[in-house]
Amino acid sequence: MGANASWIGHDLPPIVRSGVEYFLLSHRGQLYLVPNACPHRGGPLKFGYINEKEQIVCPMHHNAYSIERLIARDTTLRLCVDPS
Ligand code: FES
Repeated sequence: MGANASWIGHDLPPIVRSGVEYFLLSHRGQLYLVPNACPHRGGPLKFGYINEKEQIVCPMHHNAYSIERLIARDTTLRLCVDPS
């Protein structure tokens, strides 16, 4: 996998913060916590896949969401890997 390949932390345990469940997403070398709820009907995006257009495809009804748009939402948290 190249350094800039995007991936989802499918196998990680649930990440819950303030009652919201997130999944880990790596995109272009940055890590993000994205709410694990599809914008359509709340399906578990964590168990979707990333297609060739850099979209996450929801496992429920197969809507595809641009990673760039998902990480731009104010509900997505960007993790600081190196705080120095
Ligand atoms: S819940 Fe994700 S596409 Fe419908």
